[in-house]
Amino acid sequence: MALSTQPYKGARDFYPEDKRLQNYLFNSIRTTVRRFGYEEYDAPILESLDLYLAKTGEEIVNEQTYSFEDRGGRKVVIRPEMTPTVSRMVAAKRQELAYPLRWFSIPNLWRYERPQRGRLREHWQLNVDVFGIDTTQAEQEVIMLANQIYQDFGAKSSMYDIKVNSRKLMDAVLRDYLALDEVEAHSISKLIDRMHKMDVPTFIAQADTLIAPSKREQGTVEKLLDILSVKRFSALPEALAHNDSVAALQQLVSDLQAAGLKNVVFDITLMRGFDYYTDIVFEIFDTHPDNNRAMMGGGRYDGLVGLFGVEPVPTVGFGLGDATLANFLETHHLLPELPSETQLYIAPLVAAQQVQPLVAELREHGVTVAEGVYGKKLGDHLKTADKKGVTFALIVGEKELESEQFTLKNLVEGTEQTASIARIISQLQDYRTHAID
Ligand code: HAM
Repeated sequence: MALSTQPYKGARDFYPEDKRLQNYLFNSIRTTVRRFGYEEYDAPILESLDLYLAKTGEEIVNEQTYSFEDRGGRKVVIRPEMTPTVSRMVAAKRQELAYPLRWFSIPNLWRYERPQRGRLREHWQLNVDVFGIDTTQAEQEVIMLANQIYQDFGAKSSMYDIKVNSRKLMDAVLRDYLALDEVEAHSISKLIDRMHKMDVPTFIAQADTLIAPSKREQGTVEKLLDILSVKRFSALPEALAHNDSVAALQQLVSDLQAAGLKNVVFDITLMRGFDYYTDIVFEIFDTHPDNNRAMMGGGRYDGLVGLFGVEPVPTVGFGLGDATLANFLETHHLLPELPSETQLYIAPLVAAQQVQPLVAELREHGVTVAEGVYGKKLGDHLKTADKKGVTFALIVGEKELESEQFTLKNLVEGTEQTASIARIISQLQDYRTHAID
C-alpha cells in the first residue's frame, strides 16, 4: 500500500501559498504589536510536564496534552500554550528584568482536540503579555492592542465583539451569592465555560448533578440561571453590585469606550478555561455565524510567576490564534490577493550563462528573481510564472541583451513595457515598497 500523503490529523502542511498567507498575517501582527512597544521572545517547544500540572486546568493537562517520556525517563509535553513558559522565563530572571515587561511571541502549540472548523491539533498563537502593572491600565492596553490588530487588517467593529468579565466577580457569584463550596464552585465554573455548547435543559440537568441536593432544593440552579442572564452592570443584584470587581470592570469598559472601542460588552457567562486567571478576563468573538467562537482570549493572572518561588508579578496577557484569524479575515472578505514573494520570473530565450550577469544585477538591487530553464517556449515560461503567482516576467533573448532594452510583463494586469534594466529595477523596487512591505 502506498504511503499516505496526508499530514497528521488536525495538523496542517503549509504549501508556499499557505505560508504566504501566514507570513502576511504574522508580518501585520508583528508590526502592530511592535508599535505598542512589545519585544519578541521564544522558547523550546518541549516543556516538563510539571509546568502544566500546577495551574493550567485539568482538562488541558489530562485530555489535551501531547505528553511522553523522553529517553532519559523525563515526562515532557509539547507545549499546549505559552503562558506557563513565559511565566517560567520571567521567574528565572525575576530580579534582573526592567518592569513593566512587554513581551510577545508567536509559538506553534499542540493540543489533542477534536478537529473542527477553527479548532485544530496544532495552531500558531500570538501571545502578548505585560508583566508588572497591577492596575487596569494593563488590561486596557492589551485589549486596545488586540483591537488594533483587527483594525490593521481592515476589520470594522461590527465584525467582532470584545467581551469582558471578572473571575473575582464570578467567585463572589458562586461562593457568596450562591453559597457554593469550593468544589461545587469550581465544577460549576467549568460548566459555565461550556454552557454555550449545550441547551438550557442540559445545562440545568448537569448543574443539578454538581451541587448538594439541599442547595438544589433551595432553588440555587434557578438563581444561577437568573444571574447568568444579566446583561448590564445595573442589572446585577444589590449583593453583587458593590463588589470591587464590578467597579474595576465598569472602569475598564468606560476607559475602552472613551478610547473609541465601540464593541466592548460585559458578558457574565465568560469564564475562560484556565485555572490561573485571577481577575479580569476577556475574549474577542467573531460575530459572523460561520465562525461562532473566540478568536482571542486572555486575562489577568497575578499568581503564575510566584509559583516558581519568586516574588509574584502582576500579569495580564492574551492569546490570538492564526486559524481563527484566517477564518475571520476570509469570511469578512478582508484577505487581499497575495502575490508570490518572488517578484520577477525570467523567461530565458538564451542559455543560462548569458542571463547570469543580468540576474545577478537584479538580485544585487534587492529584486527577488526566479529563473526559468532555457529551452522552453516563451508561452510556457509565462504560464509557469502565472501559476506560481509571480507578478512580473522579464523576457531575455539575444535581441534584448544586444539592445539593452527588455520587455517586462505584468502578468496580473496583462500589460507590458520595454525599458532599460535600471528603469525596470527602480520600478520593481517601488512596486515592492507598495505591494509587499
Ligand atoms: P486560549 O483561549 O486557549 O488561551 O487560546 C487563545 C486563542 O487561541 C483562542 O481564542 C483561539 O483563537 C486560539 N486557539 C486555542 N486553541 C486552539 C485550537 N485548538 N485550534 C485553533 N485555535 C486555537 C490561551 O491559550 C492562553 N494561554 C492565552 C493567554 C496568554 N492568557 C494569558 N496570556
